[in-house]
Amino acid sequence: MKGIILAGGLGTRLSPLTKITNKHLLPIYDKPMIYYPLQTLVNAGIEDIMVVTGGNNAGDFLKLLGNGKEFGLKWLRYAYQEGEGGIADALSLAEHFAEGEKILVMLGDNVIEKNIIDPVRKFKEQDGGAKILLKEVDNPRDYGVAVLERDRVAMIIEKPEVPPTNYAVIGIYMYDARVFDMVRNLAPSARGELEITDVNNMYIKTGDMTYDFLDGWWADAGSSIDGCFQVSQRVAEGGANKV
Ligand code: DAU
Repeated sequence: MKGIILAGGLGTRLSPLTKITNKHLLPIYDKPMIYYPLQTLVNAGIEDIMVVTGGNNAGDFLKLLGNGKEFGLKWLRYAYQEGEGGIADALSLAEHFAEGEKILVMLGDNVIEKNIIDPVRKFKEQDGGAKILLKEVDNPRDYGVAVLERDRVAMIIEKPEVPPTNYAVIGIYMYDARVFDMVRNLAPSARGELEITDVNNMYIKTGDMTYDFLDGWWADAGSSIDGCFQVSQRVAEGGANKV
């Protein structure tokens, strides 16, 4: 299984901190934000990883991460997203890297307390399809929100005005190779982006989506300055990526 970290986009919600750098290079407590998702993938046993980035600071990722030696990796791959066409657009750049294997995609601004060893093992045993991870939150309006029907996901609504549940879809997604065909069939959303929620709803429609609840806390460090600050506090108090 290969891993892909998406670290493009403008990060305007963290302005002015992101005026002169990419948000994933900003500090979360004592490390740059991108270190956390990278460690999550490494802890899950994924060794072949691509970082997709963009904008004016793409070269800084190479300076910071190099070949991934600090994480015990033999190499890291990189791709460059032109513009900010959305999460699914960034993912499309990893098609050749994936070479038909199952992939794990993690958003570069997501930080977790524990690990995803169990859900990754289950997805490896799963007969293709996709898997998402859910977490109960107090502010579901800020995320993709899942509606559950017995043991399956019935649908996901992106940032709903009136959330039907408080189950946020976190930024860790597992897919089989069909994901790239699905992205090709997407139309841009109202905000002009190719949405990962539309991809997930396609897997739900074909009956190939499973879900698990994430163990431990989850944070989207990139959605607000307050969020970024709170994640730093959590990490300072108890650490992240515990195995
Ligand atoms: O964090 C979880 C949430 O992430 C999910 O619940 C939502 O369903 C999902 O749409 C996403 O929402 P956000 O509004 O938080 O996404 P954001 O625009 O912050 O992008 C998340 C990451 O994706 C970001 O760290 C960098 C990457 N990205 C984003 C865009 C728009 C790219 O690589 N390229 C892009 O063009």
